[in-house]
Amino acid sequence: MASKLELVRKHGSMRERLIVALDVDTLEQATELVRQLAGEVGMFKIGKQLFTHAGPQAVRQIQELGGEVFLDLKFHDIPNTVAKAAIEATRLGVKMFNVHASGSLEMMRMTVKEVKRVCRQQKLRKPIMLAVTVLTSLNQDDLSRVGVERKVADQVVRLALLTKEAGMDGVVASPHEVADIREACGRRFIIVTPGIRPADGNRNDQQRVMTPQDAVRGGVDYIVVGRPIIEASDPVAAARAIVADMRL
Ligand code: C5P
Repeated sequence: MASKLELVRKHGSMRERLIVALDVDTLEQATELVRQLAGEVGMFKIGKQLFTHAGPQAVRQIQELGGEVFLDLKFHDIPNTVAKAAIEATRLGVKMFNVHASGSLEMMRMTVKEVKRVCRQQKLRKPIMLAVTVLTSLNQDDLSRVGVERKVADQVVRLALLTKEAGMDGVVASPHEVADIREACGRRFIIVTPGIRPADGNRNDQQRVMTPQDAVRGGVDYIVVGRPIIEASDPVAAARAIVADMRL
């Protein structure tokens, strides 16, 4: 497990390690949340809903308000197509984006190579490049039905290792998978986890949750929190309470 000092060196303050999922219906709602929270958290996650609704303008608007963006579009396509989409995400200036590791080693390798090339040539900031291993919505039966007979936990580690081999920076994973991934992929590999709930919080539809404090202690680098912050009557207070819990 990394010491607190090592984690601060890797990411700066705890606040920078909190990512707020902007799972809202309109750009106006997203903008209002970013206005309130830009100074409180490290990043805002734009997923398929907001991006399909508002497009790159959502990214630009968050950046104009001083927020950093995790573009959570989970690209999965032929290598050339994913690499080109990744280049566009890089040009948008997002701090983090992701692909599906099951898209192949070649797909991830080409993405890393092309993003690095464009960053060098155009003097752009290199985003943190992540892969999703096995969606936490999938159970053993779902995997079996798509032809994967391996245990979910083994498949997660296998895909995390493939992600590392491709030169990507890390993975999105369940907090309960962190120990195995750390052991297999090492301390420098970045692990981002959703499924986080304050100890006294509503679980919503998340099944196997973990508190911010336990996630950080377990070696998670960034935590993603949506509803406990965006649906709170006071989102700033909710975000501050989570950061305080991470610091304990
Ligand atoms: O509201 P909540 O904190 O559950 O939001 C978590 C965010 O993380 C949502 O955007 C959700 O889509 C995403 N996510 C997740 N579980 C995964 C992958 C992503 O909850 N396995």
